Amino acid sequence: MHTHTPFTNLAFCIRTFGCQMNKHDSERVAGMLEGLGALPVDAIEDADLVVFMTCCVREAADTRLYGQVASLKNTPLRAGTPLSKRVVAVGGCIGQRDGQKLVDELPHLDVVFGTHNLGSLPRLFEEALDEGGHHVEVLDAGSSFASELPTAREHAWAAWLPIAQGCNNFCSYCIVPYVRGREKSRPLEDIVAEAEGYVAAGVKEITLLGQNVNSYGRDLYGSPRFAAVLDALDATGIERLRFATSHPKDLTDEVIGRFGTLRSLMPALHLPVQSGSDAVLAAMNRRYTRAHYLELVRKLRDVLPEIALSTDIIVGFPGETAKDFEDTYRLVDEVGYHQVFTFIYSKREGTPAASVDDPTPRDVIQGRFDRLVDFVQKRAFEANQADLGSTVDVLVEGASKRDAGLLAGKSPKNQTVHAPLPEGTSIEELAGTTVRVRIDEAKTWYLAGEVAEGSEPPAEAADGR
Ligand code: 5AD
Ligand code: SF4
Repeated sequence: MHTHTPFTNLAFCIRTFGCQMNKHDSERVAGMLEGLGALPVDAIEDADLVVFMTCCVREAADTRLYGQVASLKNTPLRAGTPLSKRVVAVGGCIGQRDGQKLVDELPHLDVVFGTHNLGSLPRLFEEALDEGGHHVEVLDAGSSFASELPTAREHAWAAWLPIAQGCNNFCSYCIVPYVRGREKSRPLEDIVAEAEGYVAAGVKEITLLGQNVNSYGRDLYGSPRFAAVLDALDATGIERLRFATSHPKDLTDEVIGRFGTLRSLMPALHLPVQSGSDAVLAAMNRRYTRAHYLELVRKLRDVLPEIALSTDIIVGFPGETAKDFEDTYRLVDEVGYHQVFTFIYSKREGTPAASVDDPTPRDVIQGRFDRLVDFVQKRAFEANQADLGSTVDVLVEGASKRDAGLLAGKSPKNQTVHAPLPEGTSIEELAGTTVRVRIDEAKTWYLAGEVAEGSEPPAEAADGR
């Protein structure tokens, strides 16, 4: 099938940390290596080529990466490998941030690449295979969209589509703008062309990606044009459209209105709040207030009452007082999120917040965090209870990890849904199709029910929107 390349019959393994942008980049790396004849394997021990797609947004993932690469030094080569040495690459945000420093600290590392030159990885690997030694290439900026590269998607029916990269917001805790650089939007024609290709190939769900999708287009057109992207994507005929991630300060009425009117736009929004305290929001440089955020929530629910909201919250930002934390807790109560991603503040060198000392003891912060986690789980449970007795469209992903006799998929609100496989069907034939499930069980992490009779892939606007 493939012509012979230096990669023919080599086994590769990719380890991915962090956000959806990284997961998407990993699919591009897999697509390139598979296109050159290398074969994917699940375990690092079985791989000749190892790629780490890294994240530096919090310290834990950072430390873990250095540990994992270090431990590879003593991992035996796979039986039957044609190589005399396993070839190891680090890419993604730590590659971009640390560059040469990585190979200085980890001399058995072979290749380092960054977030702007994914496409160079095969060449860098090839140079390392031919010549040995270190091959480090990190660019400040570049043709930053990997979309001309092939992709090996996890699911044939779901695709991530980057529309912008980088961030101009400089939240005071966040390292992303220093690593990923300034915001750069992709021309609308390119986005639409890629989406049309996916639709023609049978993709059912597209998730638009960017550090801050709402400000899409500001650099290209002088003003944000995210609503136009949503309109254009809807017009491609895609069944389900989602996006991540949004900044509350840039969420316009125009975009909010699309939740009520666009056929394909799913009734779910991830809207990171970070804190419910005005003092902390100001110190974070978020440029909105608690009241503004709650106003956005009210408008969203006016337009689409059943919308499922999710958020990110940082606990223990320097200077956060007991009262600030109570404000966050109350905000979680008021909004009633379907899902909350909670993080303990992690100091990132080079960010403004890193120079602020905080006298709050660690165990106090941990106590706040634990209390918040318990509470968000209780509220998520309650939010899911609202769906008991309803029938929801489920895009089937595969068998449930709990029980191979159950199908698992996602509701429009992005909840995981389980149901017994209907008699006479198989997971293989159902995966990537939409079935209707009557919900009779609602837990914190999932809904469950029975596939409704006569379940067919839904016609347009089957959910009545
Ligand atoms: N410490 C803790 N959490 C952070 N995040 C970003 N930077 C930090 C940090 N320094 C969180 C934010 C963001 C999510 C992706 O990661 O909540 O929304
Ligand atoms: Fe970081 Fe804020 Fe940009 Fe998000 S919006 S990537 S939190 S600086």
